[in-house]
Amino acid sequence: MRLGLIGLGRIGAFHARTLSELDTVDSLVVTDAMAARTERVASELNAEPAESAEKLLAAGVDGVLIAAATDTHPELLAAAVDAGLPVFCEKPIAADIADAVDLARRLAGRDHRVQIGYPRRFDAGYAAARAAVAAGELGWLHTVRATTLDPAPPPADYLRVSGGIFRDCSVHDFDAIRWVTGREVVEVYAAGGNRGDELFASVNDVDTAAVTLTLDDGTLALVSNSRYNPRGYDVRLELHGSRDSIAVGLDDGLPLRSVEPGVSFPHGRPHHFFMDRLAAAFRAELAAFTELVAGERESPCTVADALAASWIAEAATRSRAEHRPVRMEEVVNT
Ligand SMILES: NC(=O)c1ccc[n+]([C@@H]2O[C@H](COP(=O)([O-])OP(=O)(O)OC[C@H]3O[C@@H](n4cnc5c(N)ncnc54)[C@H](O)[C@@H]3O)[C@@H](O)[C@H]2O)c1
Repeated sequence: MRLGLIGLGRIGAFHARTLSELDTVDSLVVTDAMAARTERVASELNAEPAESAEKLLAAGVDGVLIAAATDTHPELLAAAVDAGLPVFCEKPIAADIADAVDLARRLAGRDHRVQIGYPRRFDAGYAAARAAVAAGELGWLHTVRATTLDPAPPPADYLRVSGGIFRDCSVHDFDAIRWVTGREVVEVYAAGGNRGDELFASVNDVDTAAVTLTLDDGTLALVSNSRYNPRGYDVRLELHGSRDSIAVGLDDGLPLRSVEPGVSFPHGRPHHFFMDRLAAAFRAELAAFTELVAGERESPCTVADALAASWIAEAATRSRAEHRPVRMEEVVNT
């Protein structure tokens, strides 16, 4: 099949390489707002450069992937759906909730071939955790702990359009918690910390976040995020139930140093960034998109799923600003 890819920054260039390695992808058309990036990726991967997103959409592609900056997602996604194409779009669907809701309304009834990029749904550990919960192996859940710690802050230009830590980073944990537990969030209580670069405060963001979620069955979920974890990229999920406790991400690449005498775990090279920690998940995620394009599967992560995670991020953003727990029904308007 012939696919188009819009946006060739950190994740886009990575996706381009992954796509070029998939057997099912015969040709790839790429574009970025920065022409030099388009030329570089096209020549490195023997892909076809397009001058603009509009030209790419008209280049006879079977499906399109959007990995451009977050604030471009609504317009590009809507344009691709208007062109009648299956679309993969990186998370989040928009930088703010008004745009996310507006987009969901614009796509209503036409979004069955849209997949939003939440790669943990394709990680073997997260999938095993979901299966264990569904099979009742843990009994009833009382506590979930979700962690995403980045090794270093993203570039300033990225931060400015990212929507803030809850919408940009915590959303991965929010989506994973919904997906693994099968439960919905009813209340959110969030706090933020800013002990790093003053840029975060200047764009009304925080470099570190802690969020307590109450799920609709009474389970408590704790989400921990930071942009400052130089030991590595720490992505984990712990689930504790009345019968058993399990962990995702507890492998030898865990970027944590035990100070217990005689303990050598974890003893591998720490996961460095999302590209190595989640490489297999990204590959599986993009392979799933080719199956969606081929009409062989339904979307594994819908616009409605992405909107649900965005609403939780919205509640967290409000909770931090107002220093109080926020009920989901206070913020959600559908
Ligand atoms: N799923 C994940 O784990 C994951 C990881 C990283 C990033 N992301 C998401 O991917 C997106 C991109 O992130 P990134 O880290 O690659 O950012 P980045 O800043 O490195 O790259 C963004 C690219 O988009 C290009 N761009 C901007 N507007 C464009 C337009 N209208 N048309 C074409 N290209 C345009 C820029 O020139 C740039 O090259 C963000 O929405 C981010 O949230 C997801």
